[in-house]
Amino acid sequence: MITKFTIQKIMDEARVEDIVGEFVTLKKRGSNLQGLCPFHNEKSPSFSVNPARNIYKCFGCGKAGGPLQFLMDYQQLSYPDALRYIANKYNIEIEEEHRSDEQKQAEQEKHNLTESIYIANAAAQKYFTDYMLNNDNGKIGLAYFKERGFLQHTIDKFQLGFAPDAGDGFTKYALKNGFQLDVLKKAGLTSPKENSTYDFFRNRVMFPIHNMTGKVVGFGGRIMIKDEKSPKYVNTSESEVYNKSKLLYGAYFAKQEIRKKDECLLVEGYTDVISLHQAGIENAVASSGTALTPDQIRLIKRITPNITMLYDGDNAGIKAALRGTDLILEEGMNVRIVILPDQEDPDSYVKRVGVEAFNKYIQENKKDLILFKSSLFAAEAKTDPIKKAELIRDIIESIGKIPDAIQRSVYTKQCSQLFDMNEQILITEVNKARSKKASEQAKTERRQEPKQQQNNNTGNNNPPDDYYDGSNGPPDDYYPPEERDNAPVHKERFANTDSTLPYLEREVIRVLIEYGNWGIMNEDAEVSVTAYILDEMEGMDIETPRYKPIYELVKREFAEGNAHPDSFYTGNDDRDIANLAIELLETKNHVSENWFAKHKVVVPEKKDLFVRDIQSALLRLKQYHNIVEINKIAHLLRDAQDEKESERLMKLWKLLMEQKKEFARTIGNVIYRPST
Ligand code: UTP
Ligand code: MN
Repeated sequence: MITKFTIQKIMDEARVEDIVGEFVTLKKRGSNLQGLCPFHNEKSPSFSVNPARNIYKCFGCGKAGGPLQFLMDYQQLSYPDALRYIANKYNIEIEEEHRSDEQKQAEQEKHNLTESIYIANAAAQKYFTDYMLNNDNGKIGLAYFKERGFLQHTIDKFQLGFAPDAGDGFTKYALKNGFQLDVLKKAGLTSPKENSTYDFFRNRVMFPIHNMTGKVVGFGGRIMIKDEKSPKYVNTSESEVYNKSKLLYGAYFAKQEIRKKDECLLVEGYTDVISLHQAGIENAVASSGTALTPDQIRLIKRITPNITMLYDGDNAGIKAALRGTDLILEEGMNVRIVILPDQEDPDSYVKRVGVEAFNKYIQENKKDLILFKSSLFAAEAKTDPIKKAELIRDIIESIGKIPDAIQRSVYTKQCSQLFDMNEQILITEVNKARSKKASEQAKTERRQEPKQQQNNNTGNNNPPDDYYDGSNGPPDDYYPPEERDNAPVHKERFANTDSTLPYLEREVIRVLIEYGNWGIMNEDAEVSVTAYILDEMEGMDIETPRYKPIYELVKREFAEGNAHPDSFYTGNDDRDIANLAIELLETKNHVSENWFAKHKVVVPEKKDLFVRDIQSALLRLKQYHNIVEINKIAHLLRDAQDEKESERLMKLWKLLMEQKKEFARTIGNVIYRPST
């Protein structure tokens, strides 16, 4: 493992303009560099590199990151490989973590096993292919593929083969060539039964399954003639290197084209992928019979946000499609669905009609989620109001899963038009679905305080209109109607209906990331901004789910004595952290400037803006919590039964009101002080 120290050194040295410049021609444009985006097709440049921030961002497709992410995304390198690439470029010596001998040995063994499995798989693939092409008994496999219309170059590209009927043909061959039985079993190539040397795949045509770097990690073996007693496909069982739920068949061959077309076609089977590729449609991958998993979706998300699912029109196909869509929406990606004509799968259909007609069909029948769902049940829903209500409810559930507020509202509007429904009612329902989802999530995450915020993350950095400072008590519509009068008092009630908190927390996180390693005076000593903010945050927490992980990371790092520069976060190997950090830095100062503009207060000068930014962010958050507390006590006071309790609450109330005044005064000093 590369040491943290080396990683930081690499991050500090790596220049985004150097790394990106290796692959993209960049031209100077003001203080930035500009070029044609390598992640999507474009004619005029919208890909911008910011050397000062050490980040790139495409304003066309939204891809953004630091030097490390660029290598990971564009070159599909793993995190450690990207680090090594940069180290090599800048002649940085890589220090490996010091580990105990046992640890090292265990790792070495694991590494050796993994490598051995890769080698065994590669040998098996060669054996199956060779057997099919050159052995008389294997030619039946080749005939099968040819019969299906696979051309020789396709067979070569996908490394198809045939597993002999002999029973132990491959295992014997492998043992003779020095492979250990243990490794063959762990690779899933030989029967797992003790002492058995029986081949796992027998008398089947073989589809090797490649990982993202093109290594064979497993196989699917198809029976050639229909047989009720054996399954159509036999697949490698889970192994050290084969994790079905994290793989997509064809992804290695499709990744370039997915990026280029900015769209991933998702089909069901091996043969669909192969036929589409053969027809020149090379952005197709398959989930190989299982329902789509979140890991698979994220695999695609690294390359494109657009997934188009091609499913056959039978019931199973439609069900499978429907299960997948919501997961895709939850990942914040776009999903479209194409249902193929009856009795066709992509493989058969492209063969029957040819690539042009196939593409045309897809373009014409591509439906977004709502259109898809409504078209599915349209006939039923038209005549049956109960069915219609069910359908709308179902669609609302799905819309509620979309993290992006703008996209949600677009879909909601579409839904209201389609079903001729009042939009406001639908919005309310979508919000309900979201808070239900949020509270379910909270339960599963076992939060101590089941407080969940809506995810107001859509780049709207203005203070929400419903921000209220508590001076006149909460506005009338502060609570949802059904709770206004008689709901029990919970802290989350204040938060759930309030979009202020995420905004305030966002500001704190922004200054924490942006100035983390700067110096700031605390009493008489200079400390890091990280130390300062964490100290000030004592007793408070960051509650917005979106900002929690980065805050936890800052705390963890600080506990180890680190106050990092922003590059640590923008270049973090956790993409969610890196993307959030970049987003926060990108919106630098807009937040406060908008805020000031809106409230007609003089914008302070830049030189000590960062101190004011930090203080005002902290003060506002504290003020918010103070007001929430005040509201809570006010409710308790109103409902208090006995005198002692009232007295206690009254004392608390006074204390909080004192604090409140204090906040107002300090905020006045810090924020509204005109620039000098
Ligand atoms: P299909 O039955 O549609 O298979 O299953 P296919 O690949 O299109 O095969 P052909 O066209 O009949 O030759 C879709 C996918 O489900 C998985 C395989 O990954 C297959 O490609 N599957 C299916 C299995 O893993 N096991 C099975 O028994 C059946
Ligand atoms: Mn098929």
